[in-house]
Amino acid sequence: MSNFVEIKNKVGEFEKTISVPGDKSLSIRWVLFASLAKGKSKAKNLLMSEDVIAAIKAIKKLGIKVIINKKECTIFGKGIEGYNYKKNLTINAQNSGTLGRLILGLLVNSTKPINLIGDKSLSKRDFSRVSEPLSKFGAKFKLKNNNFLPLEIYGSSNLKPIKYYEKKGSAQCKSSIIFAAMRTNGDTIIKAKKSRNHTELLCKHLKLPISVKNNKNYDLIKIKKVKKINTLNYEIPSDISSSAFFIVLTALSKHSELVIKNVNINPSRIGIVTILKKMGVKIFFKNQKTYKGEKKADIKVISAKNLKAINCPPKLNSGAIDEFLVIFLVAAKAKGISYFRNIGELNQKESPRLMWAEKILTNLGVKTITTKNSIKIYGNPKINLNSNKKIIIKNYLKDHRVFMTSLIAALSFGGKWIIHDKDSINTSFPNFLKIIDKIKS
Ligand code: S3P
Repeated sequence: MSNFVEIKNKVGEFEKTISVPGDKSLSIRWVLFASLAKGKSKAKNLLMSEDVIAAIKAIKKLGIKVIINKKECTIFGKGIEGYNYKKNLTINAQNSGTLGRLILGLLVNSTKPINLIGDKSLSKRDFSRVSEPLSKFGAKFKLKNNNFLPLEIYGSSNLKPIKYYEKKGSAQCKSSIIFAAMRTNGDTIIKAKKSRNHTELLCKHLKLPISVKNNKNYDLIKIKKVKKINTLNYEIPSDISSSAFFIVLTALSKHSELVIKNVNINPSRIGIVTILKKMGVKIFFKNQKTYKGEKKADIKVISAKNLKAINCPPKLNSGAIDEFLVIFLVAAKAKGISYFRNIGELNQKESPRLMWAEKILTNLGVKTITTKNSIKIYGNPKINLNSNKKIIIKNYLKDHRVFMTSLIAALSFGGKWIIHDKDSINTSFPNFLKIIDKIKS
């Protein structure tokens, strides 16, 4: 089968209700927590994408039994000290930064060395951001060029609690430290720049010894050694990051409306909603509920008429960190110059995303000024590409979000697009193209 898509037509008007798959961050965290619980945990609506399957394979290698059927996934945890594996184990985190970084926190007490590897994209990403704090607990690391995968972790049976200031606003880094602290006697204290707080919420739901004090710009997290984790049956709400593509498609289309059912709207994840509302998009939350510490709702979006540029307040960055590429498409059509700053972390993702934003927007004929941590977008409300204009998107390290953003751009702005590496969507959103077809039909 060909591994590219060709898009020649804009999407027409639509009025649809859709569901997107389970949240990736929550799915991976559920797999890891369930692997530490004593007994059977079950999940429904677990995201069945390559990143989550890599997490399942990883815990299987650590000696944990997993059964997956159509309806649910069951993990047979053996308790917090229940991992059991041979010497020289290799764990493959594939494309997943979340898996690679979080699991290291759980391996800090391993008395056998473990290798961690990943795919080409993950092997270009920074791992010193976790090896550095985890070394302070007493684990030792060997990293390629002191920074990259493959790495080897040598755990310690004599871990010491740490005080750490997490300054990047990385939930992966924060969560990795929380996991290591769960294995360590004494109080670990993390001063963490704001980032998604799923790990903390799951810890609280499981009644683990964690306390979180929310300050304006950072959280103060205190965590003690965990003796036991109860099993966790969980129905994963849908992923706001996957919803983002359809929110933007609707905002950019004419006379259209969309409802996305049962989406996780954790306040630390809905930066896209705040940003797009400021730009003039109508978005509503309906049927709001709290589920096991997480908020969820149906999201309704209506086509926008007059989009306004935004000078995006950096405090919104962490809550929209995975959505910026697709948010930039809205800025491309907005009246005025939009400015996004302090977003250098985008170049630390599955591909250097600021660079890819510039490429996609340039293809749209939109002027940008990009630095290593900011982008100015000179919006054009009349943007409409000639149907002969050929745009080819390839060699982007198979970054799923570059593929999906390009596809939304093609459907919104016209032109003749060939977007390579269709299989990139398998890491986070395998049925993305099926939902696109549903909207088009
Ligand atoms: C994630 C944290 C974010 C995000 C990633 C998922 C998580 O990464 O970009 O897609 O589940 O903790 P950083 O921690 O690098 O910001």
